Amino acid sequence: MAAKKNVVGGIKLDYTNMMSDAVGAKDGLTANQLKSGEKQAAGAFASVSAQRKAGKLPFMDLPYTMSAGPIEKYAAGARRKFENLVVLGIGGSALGMTALQTALNPAHYNLLDASKRRAPRLFVEDNVDPERIAAMLDLLDPKKTLFNVITKSGGTAETMSALMIARDMIVKKLGKSALKEHLVATTDIKQGNLRAIVDREGLSSFVVPDGVGGRFSVLTAVGLLPAAIVGIDIRGLLSGAAAMDKRCSSGSISSNPALAGAVLHFLMDTAKGKNIQVMMPYANALGGVADWFAQLWAESLGKKHSTDGRTVCAGQTPVKAIGATDQHSQLQLYMEGPADKAVTFMRVEKFRRTVKIPKVYADMPGLAYLAGRGMDELLNAEQKATELALAAARRPNCSIILPEINAGSVGQLLYMLEIQTAYAGALYGVNAFDQPGVESGKVSTYALMGRPGYEKQRAEIEKAAKAMKRRVV
Ligand code: PA5
Repeated sequence: MAAKKNVVGGIKLDYTNMMSDAVGAKDGLTANQLKSGEKQAAGAFASVSAQRKAGKLPFMDLPYTMSAGPIEKYAAGARRKFENLVVLGIGGSALGMTALQTALNPAHYNLLDASKRRAPRLFVEDNVDPERIAAMLDLLDPKKTLFNVITKSGGTAETMSALMIARDMIVKKLGKSALKEHLVATTDIKQGNLRAIVDREGLSSFVVPDGVGGRFSVLTAVGLLPAAIVGIDIRGLLSGAAAMDKRCSSGSISSNPALAGAVLHFLMDTAKGKNIQVMMPYANALGGVADWFAQLWAESLGKKHSTDGRTVCAGQTPVKAIGATDQHSQLQLYMEGPADKAVTFMRVEKFRRTVKIPKVYADMPGLAYLAGRGMDELLNAEQKATELALAAARRPNCSIILPEINAGSVGQLLYMLEIQTAYAGALYGVNAFDQPGVESGKVSTYALMGRPGYEKQRAEIEKAAKAMKRRVV
């Protein structure tokens, strides 16, 4: 697929309303606080750059190391053959793909006429909710369906149980020989149960590169393979990410937007008590990015121990809101509730499409002001109004501004937020690349479900449950 012209002008970060001159010194950063933050930011930049140089952060090199060709080749065949693509994965093995799909394919994509879509419908099954899985099985004709099972570890119970169900359906309805055509795996190159299954069944497979964690894997085959199958320009994503990498090559917050985002939120949390970050895109298309970011920020920074062994219980809680919808749901709390939040708006300068409000009810002054205006103008006015109202209420906020939404700008945005998270990890002094809390949840599930090797954990859980006085009304 030829790369479209889509590395548009850069994404901007406007942090005017995080400063004390906009929201007061109690809630906003003074020039002096920002100055000392700049020194910390320079240290975080140096630490991340050194880790990258030592080969410890391969996700940062993906814009150059990922080769689009083999993915596009497989995707072109799959697009021709299948009406449905079902992604089986969870967490970092699902959220990136969903963010890409939501941002870059039309809303209601699955409902479009096949001739307009020119690619399979997409279903992302990222839970083991039996009703949802049963509904998917009712809906899909296995003959017309490709399953892409994605798990880096190759053992996650949610994903592997879904795979077992899909496999069973394919074998029962189409025969064992159909597995090769209807199943494609994305996993570690050598380890895990899924790799063993790939070898045993002779499945097509793609690799999650060594050292790239789930939540940093959207620009590997984890995100790019399903994205390419549903017609997304993956070269545009990679070149957008490369353009952002170039912009983030200095240790100064005045030129590196990811570093600025990291230090601003770090200071908001640690110096101003804003331990919640609300990400509020004013574009439904960016709602998936807000969900993806929530995992990235939470799982990377939410750590009990610092890298030097202190108990820190660090992290800023990410919350998703959608503008303008959540102005009528959550905004009241953000304006007048606890002053513990910093809001990050996302704003799009030029929408891909707009709809004009017709000139009707011109005799009604309460409506006439809307007539003839674009919905894009209304949405952006609402964003501006909310930003100003929050600032006037001394609630700090910043805006990520995208010139437009396309593969290039989304590649820039995702990459910027990934390295912002890496810098933030260095600022907090935590390891942003492990997830001991998630792993312990996985272990408890294995234990409760009776996986061999987890007998001790099961006995401990049962003992603790017995000792607990249950209080149920
Ligand atoms: O970011 C992470 O590492 C996690 O959220 C994982 O993506 C998630 O737990 C799923 O793991 P796996 O891809 O091994 O199935």
